[in-house]
Amino acid sequence: MRIDILTVVPELLASPLNESILKRAQQAGQVEIAVHNLRDYTSDRRRTVDDYPFGGEAGMVMKPEPIFLCIEKLKGERDYDEVIYTSPDGVTYDQHEANRLSTLGNIIILCGHYKGVDYRVREHLITREISIGDYVLTGGELAAAIITDSVVRLLPGAIGDEASALTDCFQDNLLAPPVYTRPAEFNGWRVPDVLLSGNFAEIARWQEETALERTERLRPDLLEK
Ligand code: ADE
Repeated sequence: MRIDILTVVPELLASPLNESILKRAQQAGQVEIAVHNLRDYTSDRRRTVDDYPFGGEAGMVMKPEPIFLCIEKLKGERDYDEVIYTSPDGVTYDQHEANRLSTLGNIIILCGHYKGVDYRVREHLITREISIGDYVLTGGELAAAIITDSVVRLLPGAIGDEASALTDCFQDNLLAPPVYTRPAEFNGWRVPDVLLSGNFAEIARWQEETALERTERLRPDLLEK
């Protein structure tokens, strides 16, 4: 898989994309991630990527030309399955969308900034608009990092234990059951006996029941899906 991220602040993406599982997945060739600075696609001396909005509102708008240039160049090099725009007014991101994106070959993620992007970009280039939640960030970079992280960890071989991604929270619209490690007793608090029993059928039943109980209590909206 290949992920191309377009941004006006590439520094914001350096650390999240180059540590831990994402770093290893890139080294192992499971994913190629390329970050593009939109200022490299400007032609004026000040490398301008934004301008005042028509209509006189406050704030700045991302100019269309650098974005068109960058995306056209990338599209000339390979085909893309999805051109994503990160914005608080996009469709809310969830595990189902992460699963879907992880099955694609090449995707572009355009990070929104300032008041947003010139609407012509959204109309003519973007195929999917994604919000990571109903709150406003200073820019779409952290959203792009979150999308990339959640997709890359699903790629075959990216996380050591293959079964682990399948038992994540949300994979069945359920919260994950509680997990424990050694010691079996800490501060007088004991790990549930069933987990120490070695009876895997019982353990699986306990995990299902506790997952359901936690979901009913904390996220009943998931059960309605
Ligand atoms: N940019 C600013 N806020 C955002 C959000 N909630 N999701 C995605 N991109 C954003």
